[in-house]
Amino acid sequence: MSTTTAISPPEVKLTKNLINGEWCDAAGGGTFETFNPATGEPIARVAEGAKEDVEQAVGAARQALESGPWSKMSARDRGKCLYKLADLVDQNAARLAALEVLNNGKPVMEVQHADVPLVAETFRYFAGWADKITGDTIPVDRTMGNFFCYTRREPVGVCGQIIPWNFPMLMAAWKWGPALACGNTIVLKPAEQTPLTALAMGELAMEAGFPPGVINIVNGFGETAGDALVRHPGVDKIAFTGEYKTAQIINRNAADTLKRTTFELGGKSPSVVFADADLDQAVRGAMTGIFFNQGEVCCAGSRLFVEESIHDEFVDKFKTAAEKRRLGDPFDPKTHQGAQVSQEQFDKVLKYVDIGKNEDGATCVTGGERFGDKGWFVKPTIFTGVRNDMRIAQEEIFGPVVSVLKFSEMGDVIKQANMTMYGLAAAVWTQDITKAFAIADGVRAGTVWVNCYNTFDPAAPFGGYKFSGHGRENGKAALEAYSEIKTVWVNLGKR
Ligand code: NAI
Ligand code: MG
Repeated sequence: MSTTTAISPPEVKLTKNLINGEWCDAAGGGTFETFNPATGEPIARVAEGAKEDVEQAVGAARQALESGPWSKMSARDRGKCLYKLADLVDQNAARLAALEVLNNGKPVMEVQHADVPLVAETFRYFAGWADKITGDTIPVDRTMGNFFCYTRREPVGVCGQIIPWNFPMLMAAWKWGPALACGNTIVLKPAEQTPLTALAMGELAMEAGFPPGVINIVNGFGETAGDALVRHPGVDKIAFTGEYKTAQIINRNAADTLKRTTFELGGKSPSVVFADADLDQAVRGAMTGIFFNQGEVCCAGSRLFVEESIHDEFVDKFKTAAEKRRLGDPFDPKTHQGAQVSQEQFDKVLKYVDIGKNEDGATCVTGGERFGDKGWFVKPTIFTGVRNDMRIAQEEIFGPVVSVLKFSEMGDVIKQANMTMYGLAAAVWTQDITKAFAIADGVRAGTVWVNCYNTFDPAAPFGGYKFSGHGRENGKAALEAYSEIKTVWVNLGKR
């Protein structure tokens, strides 16, 4: 891994909505405050979009889809815009990283090594797809006539994309990449907690040559701006990442206009550590699994099943490693863990710590309290003595809090691993290939990691079973969610 370089807090320039290539105040003139999670202090006021702004943005996106230069642009040129955007992300990496640190509270170490490079690679990966999205020729029954039958892949249309605050830039890239490769137009609604980096990417997208109206960004709250997007008859598809309860509301509200929906939701992902595992590797994996990004990760390894015979030794090593994590100023390149994104999330995490200690009766072996006296930092927290039916083992905490559970038998651990409403990810640590495959086969989850955790690549599909969502992001699979298949029958006349 290359070294992390120091960056200073950035200047915040962009705070308006991006509609039809113009930076606009909200139609109603309102603004809302965005905060620095590391200090709890306000950073800037951002245009508060709502129904009227969504109306304008959808109008611009519709026009760009149907009659602007985008509608006539070749697939290869769409790809070139995406390649250019990837290059611009690389060229502006330091500035984007600084904005992301300021806005989200995550440490620069992670932003420089994960978020920013993955954003660039996501655009590059989908750039490559743009001119390779093809249809088929279909061997239809010739007894009916002399037909030539083929399929085309066409854009779904105007895509409403509603994203969360945990990976603000990367979630936008996962949504923009496949949508743009397929020729769609976009109205993005960033999370109200973290609007700043999406706006910076909007500026780069214009520089990259995406015509006005192809990418629109409306800031604001879920219940207003987000909801208007979900209900708008001019929006063909909603792609959403966030809480399953929000997805349920969105699915209901999108039903009247029968929109296509894809959902990437939460998790309570099981990690299984067998006694034969390389323990140090398993501890490192468990650390990444739960503490990466302050635990604000949909696929966080929040339920850690450890084989009984190594339980105590594992917990000792895990606790020691957790206590070595450096928390603090996320701009400091030596910081491992930054702040939770908001007061609300900070309160939620500490509420679950309290539930774990007092309602569930689990044992908190380390952490379990705030770090420092300003900002929204929570110490890495490990609970042992957890049963799978406890609330801390079943409900998504979305913070640096892990439940350790004991197991002694393969069939039982698979059963327990699956006893969750979620199905986003799972992991297994073992040297025994048979055990590894048994977990990979037996666990109902969209991603299974064997002797690793949180490895991502834009080419590898990502998404959930059960309440973790439907549809897949990344990989070829993502293109399916952003294209319609048109079947064309041509009567070639008499043979
Ligand atoms: P949320 O699901 O409410 O918010 C995500 C996005 O949806 C935001 O842009 C928000 O403005 C928008 N939204 C909210 N209500 C909406 C509505 N009625 N119509 C349209 N859009 C709407 O998540 P929130 O409240 O920020 O976090 C709550 C919990 O959700 C977290 O504690 C965590 O457990 C989970 N979560 C999961 C994420 C994941 O990646 N799977 C990401 C963020 C949160
Ligand atoms: Mg919410």
